Amino acid sequence: MALNYMAVAAINLVAALLSVPVIAAGIWLSTQADNACVQILQWPVIALGVALLAVGLAGFVAAFCRLPWLLLAYLVAISVLVVALACLAVFVFAVTTGSSGHRVPSRDFLEYDLDDYSGWLRARLDAPGRWDRIKACLAATPTCTDFNATYATAQDLFTAAPNRMSPLQSGCCKPPTKCGYTLVTPTYWISPISATADPDCAAWSNEEAKFCYSCASCKAGLLQNLRGEWRRADLILAVATAALLAVYAMGCYAFRTAKTDELFRRYRQGYT
Ligand SMILES: *[C@@H]1O[C@H](CO)[C@@H](O)[C@H](O)[C@H]1NC(C)=O
Repeated sequence: MALNYMAVAAINLVAALLSVPVIAAGIWLSTQADNACVQILQWPVIALGVALLAVGLAGFVAAFCRLPWLLLAYLVAISVLVVALACLAVFVFAVTTGSSGHRVPSRDFLEYDLDDYSGWLRARLDAPGRWDRIKACLAATPTCTDFNATYATAQDLFTAAPNRMSPLQSGCCKPPTKCGYTLVTPTYWISPISATADPDCAAWSNEEAKFCYSCASCKAGLLQNLRGEWRRADLILAVATAALLAVYAMGCYAFRTAKTDELFRRYRQGYT
């Protein structure tokens, strides 16, 4: 049996098609306001997706045009890509461990602690100049304007369901509840007479450009937002990796079967 090139071409086309959800995941991440400000994960995901598309198409051409050398190069390249995708999927899973927020007394929404998130992610935010750039970017998004417009009364805000208020809004658009501020509008608060020592409480400002963007609670809210989005993208990466492994195994099997048959045929010819 010679190598069934048409079957291999079909397998490689599947590999190329698997790049579509990966690229889509990268593009989806870059459309999320918080990811667009942080700029960490979308580029590696998009780059891997494009590489996968290119390699899959090269593999398809190799099989379709019966170019064994290109097919061998394809098998090497796709194995490197599978390993890279698997590493990225595991890495993203590892850095997105953390809590899913804390209840606050007499509030329904959740608040977030920076200490709950991975050191690697926190270090990304704390690189010199990084947070200044990210918070300016966040302040330019409609996140807090939407937050201000959503709750008409204090009661509305205090009883907001956790899934209605994004972690980013909880952390950046209002002072942390422990500070004891009194609400006027969701983004306008009166400070208590005796201030708390917590730096977040002093960092709160009613000015639209400041709010709590300098608070640790804002970094925590951002990381919780990222965590949710990264986990979703990670699921796609993991599924694509598993499917690619299957495709890769089939490709290898077809290649080896053909090679073995070929050797066997030559061996027999040598004796006749
Ligand atoms: C928040 O909403 C109130 C009431 O609708 C409005 O008066 C105020 O200007 C808004 N603040 C910001 C910062 O948008």
